[in-house]
Amino acid sequence: MWEKKPVLLLVLATCAILVGTIVTMVLPFLWVNTEADRIEGVTPYTALQQEGRDIYIRDGCNNCHTQTVRPLVPEVLRYGDYSKSGEFVYDRPFLWGSKRTGPDLARLGGKYPDAWHYKHMESPRSMVPKTNMPDYGWFSDNLLDPQMIQRKMETLGFPFTADEIKALQGKNEMDAMVAYLQKLGSDIAWRNTTKTEIVGELVNPYVAVDHDTMEPWEDLYQDNCSACHGEHMEGVIGPQLIGEDYEDEILFEIIYSGIADGGMPSFSSLGTDKVWKLVNYIKYYNQDEGH
Ligand code: HEC
Ligand code: HEC
Repeated sequence: MWEKKPVLLLVLATCAILVGTIVTMVLPFLWVNTEADRIEGVTPYTALQQEGRDIYIRDGCNNCHTQTVRPLVPEVLRYGDYSKSGEFVYDRPFLWGSKRTGPDLARLGGKYPDAWHYKHMESPRSMVPKTNMPDYGWFSDNLLDPQMIQRKMETLGFPFTADEIKALQGKNEMDAMVAYLQKLGSDIAWRNTTKTEIVGELVNPYVAVDHDTMEPWEDLYQDNCSACHGEHMEGVIGPQLIGEDYEDEILFEIIYSGIADGGMPSFSSLGTDKVWKLVNYIKYYNQDEGH
């Protein structure tokens, strides 16, 4: 019936489209990037970090990695606090991505020490045997071009100093990448807001375990810990775990909660039983060195 009244149809159709445009485009533009949306502590990338970001884009890391934690319980438990729009104000372009062949990297900064990243980028399989992430060791062979980076910083309007540009001399693409990865998601103090809580009393459920019981627990150690603490607990990126006399509860706490800012991740996701198994495995290994 409306199609017989062209003027009315035109007016109604225009209204429908206008309402749609206002709701989906105009209002979000008013909400996003306003002063209220700014987050204190979110800073622009340094010259070194920005270059790492450009290499990240050049090599298509975003084809396998997202950079946004959605506000869903499983995501927050796995990755940390969900992403806020104000965290992306210096991302040009943003790298939210849509495909997670590898894990999300939005909360990566500070999760591992620098040395972990150098080793992992050089050879992901030396740390995570089954990963399909390619090796990027060749990043270390490519020196940075400070003049080029300075021009990029000027174009983006990010602050930089002459000393900062000078310091890029002799640095390579690997250095830039690691600097960038350590910046990701570390501008807001989310780690303090999602502290893991240990529920219940800490009592070691495994007493006087023997060698045979312990044997299968070795895989837990090799899969989760050996990349940083060494195949024989001799220490690599993290300290050695042999020759130490740990108390059960302290060892449990370290493994379960991690050491924030120390580069030791939390393993609460393994669940308390597996963490207790690790506690006992490490203690047993210490009593029985050379096994
Ligand atoms: C073919 C897909 C693929 C590509 C391309 C890829 N990755 Fe990965 N990445 C993975 C997978 C799978 C993992 C998980 C296993 C592991 O740690 O290697 C991973 C893990 C990681 C981790 C560790 C994350 C964590 O929280 O433990 C970092 C950091 C990382 N990748 C950075 C990069 C960077 C930087 C690039 C680009 C230079 C890149 N990846 C390219 C698949 C990929
Ligand atoms: C990403 C690397 C990494 C992984 C993986 C890792 N650790 Fe650590 N760990 C560290 C670092 C780095 C430290 C030192 C932190 C500090 O003291 O500030 C540390 C410290 C420790 C300590 C305290 C050592 C001491 O004597 O002070 C224990 C115990 C420990 N880790 C156990 C484990 C266990 C068990 C696992 C596996 C479930 C594990 N770690 C996995 C990096 C790692």
